[in-house]
Amino acid sequence: MAKEKVRVTDLGRMKAEGAPITMLTAYDYPFARIFDHVGVDVLLVGDSLGMVVQGADSTLPVTLGEMIYHTRMVVRARRRALVIADLPFLTYQVSVEQAVRNAGRLIKDGGAEAVKLEGGITMADTIRRLVDVDIPVMGHIGLTPQSIHRMGGHRVQGRRSGKGPGCRERLLEDAAAVEQAGAFSLVLEGIPADLAQEITEHSAIPTIGIGAGPRCDGQVLVMHDVLGLSESFIPRFAKPYANLWQDAGAAATAYIREVRERAFPAPEHCYGSKGA
Ligand code: KIV
Repeated sequence: MAKEKVRVTDLGRMKAEGAPITMLTAYDYPFARIFDHVGVDVLLVGDSLGMVVQGADSTLPVTLGEMIYHTRMVVRARRRALVIADLPFLTYQVSVEQAVRNAGRLIKDGGAEAVKLEGGITMADTIRRLVDVDIPVMGHIGLTPQSIHRMGGHRVQGRRSGKGPGCRERLLEDAAAVEQAGAFSLVLEGIPADLAQEITEHSAIPTIGIGAGPRCDGQVLVMHDVLGLSESFIPRFAKPYANLWQDAGAAATAYIREVRERAFPAPEHCYGSKGA
């Protein structure tokens, strides 16, 4: 792992070299610090925070102010990783001007180095304008959580053939449109592995997959899924590498027991009345 700061421009180089890009979501200082310390390439302040941090049942209620608040925490923790922040629902779809203003706030007030937004062909003009004013954009197509109502839930996309939203041929066109508009990379979420491979092979920009199989140029997961921080549901595409739900519960249980038994605090945790 290189020690140098990861820049937007490094992701294209990594694709060219065949070096897999690693990306994790982070929403606060301590976890961003851990992930940066162990060498993740990209920290994504995802609007998934609506679900995994705030407990909502979709990403739709997340506000720009909340994204800026969490992005600042992550940026303070970051030494090496590239920090990308999501534009939440209805902060970029109304007009290109709205997108520039709000993406600018994620960069200027939040400290992000790039923004991510959902959508393909329909977002091309917006991406082009953001790139024109030097705001680097990561695209996001496939299962786009902000489209939950159109999709009828968090459903795998690209299985049906056709040019309608979420259909296979349309997703190929969406990927090409995002690239042509100037995005520096593209998240592929919740699509068949063979479609993700086809998009990756046709893209000059790196693809980052989540539920999109192994042939993407990089992978991203939500930190709660990687760390086993959720109470029960782990999506099929995710792999828990720890069980922090269980570990945190065991630690809190031990603490509660020791307080009730007056075993904590012990003498070594107490201050004397004399001392330096
Ligand atoms: O919001 C998010 O965390 C995301 C990733 C799942 C790609 O968009």
